[in-house]
Amino acid sequence: MDFFSSLLKKTVLVNMKVLIIGSGGREHALAWKLSKSSLVEKLFIAPGNPGTAEVGKNVAIPAEDIEGLKEFAKKEGIGLTIVGPELPLTLGIVDSFTREGLRAFGPTKRAAELEGSKVFSKDLMLKHNIPTAHYKKFDNPDFARSYIDTHNPPFVVKADGLAAGKGVVICHTREEAYTAVDLIMKQKAFGVAGKRIIVEEFLTGEEASFLAITDGKTVVPLAPAQDHKAIFDGDKGPNTGGMGAYSPTPVITPELEAEIMKTVMIPTVKAMELEGRPYKGVLYAGLMISGGKPKVLEFNCRFGDPETQPILMRLEDDLLELLMAAIEGRLQGVRLKWSEKAAVCVVMSSRGYPGEYLKGTEIHGLKEAAKLDNVVVFHAGTALKAGKVVTSGGRVLGVTALGDGIQEAIERAYEAAGKISWEGAYYRRDIGKKALK
Ligand code: AMP
Ligand code: GLY
Repeated sequence: MDFFSSLLKKTVLVNMKVLIIGSGGREHALAWKLSKSSLVEKLFIAPGNPGTAEVGKNVAIPAEDIEGLKEFAKKEGIGLTIVGPELPLTLGIVDSFTREGLRAFGPTKRAAELEGSKVFSKDLMLKHNIPTAHYKKFDNPDFARSYIDTHNPPFVVKADGLAAGKGVVICHTREEAYTAVDLIMKQKAFGVAGKRIIVEEFLTGEEASFLAITDGKTVVPLAPAQDHKAIFDGDKGPNTGGMGAYSPTPVITPELEAEIMKTVMIPTVKAMELEGRPYKGVLYAGLMISGGKPKVLEFNCRFGDPETQPILMRLEDDLLELLMAAIEGRLQGVRLKWSEKAAVCVVMSSRGYPGEYLKGTEIHGLKEAAKLDNVVVFHAGTALKAGKVVTSGGRVLGVTALGDGIQEAIERAYEAAGKISWEGAYYRRDIGKKALK
């Protein structure tokens, strides 16, 4: 990282205690990376998982218990809190910590609206000329129906608020679109998150995840990544939180990266400032790339999961220094150093996910997999039961490998995944394949 790190260390970065909030694969990756920082004195993860317990100390406080987390941070003298999931951000955890004089990395409640409300983010993009799909917003299902009646499918119907990744319905016919509107607005499948909806144009192309760290003025891009949202090979089946990811992505060339910075990332941070909602933290744009041009599908106000796993395996700089520079408005001139290697993360899930699945099944082979060079097995939905690691969620592990090129990283990640087993383990066999075309 090119910046005045000596100055930095002298001022604040000695012996810092760090708290990470969350319990997924993303949080294990953050904890793994921070555990390598000489600037971190002690690392806590709330609530964490058995993987984070190997690199830090888990604290049994739920990610949404803002008061409890604040009390813990005060009592322990935490120097920096890093918020993993969107929910505490949209509930205002950063505002609450800041009021108490505690440092927390992430956007304020008003800035996190960028993810918390699709109506807000679409209106912002329209107003500030940030490329995105054409859309209409509705707070009345009858008006949404009339709109669908007078336009041609396909449509994409989206609940306004947070819906745990399930609030987007791709509709190939008018019938499907009516059903989606009813599901969200009449049956209230996502509660108040569905009081308003967006009906938007269906975009085609290749998806990519573009993440950046910002201090509210300067935007520092992270290495681009690609997620695999669908449960089955060939992007078939229902969408999940993400079944695997890789970095770098051939679809994002250096020219396209410059274009994304110029037309999406920098204008969005500027727009948020103009709207009186200065944005600090991770800005994650889910993009559709078509004809070499990006359009924004959605913004997230946090690190992606599983994108963070391959991204952080390639980051050569100290993550604590980077996040502190963002909090303190010192990102100007920062350029990050990335490993030349490629990284691939294969998510192992419980059979049945994203629907119903069993929990509590013992996982075998974790040690054998971790012994492989350049492999890290990140935990997500795991738990300890009588000293054994068992499944406890839909996405269970993120088996991540570095290799000389995507092909080698793919082979290594699958070799490691092949050593891990449990009754009902499932994973896609084509993670990273798109990058080989
Ligand atoms: P979102 O939560 O808005 O990113 O949507 C979840 C997924 O739905 C995206 O990753 C895309 O695969 C798909 N999607 C969302 N919006 C559109 C769109 N306008 N056109 C095509 N696919 C979309
Ligand atoms: N991988 C998708 C997300 O983090 O939202």
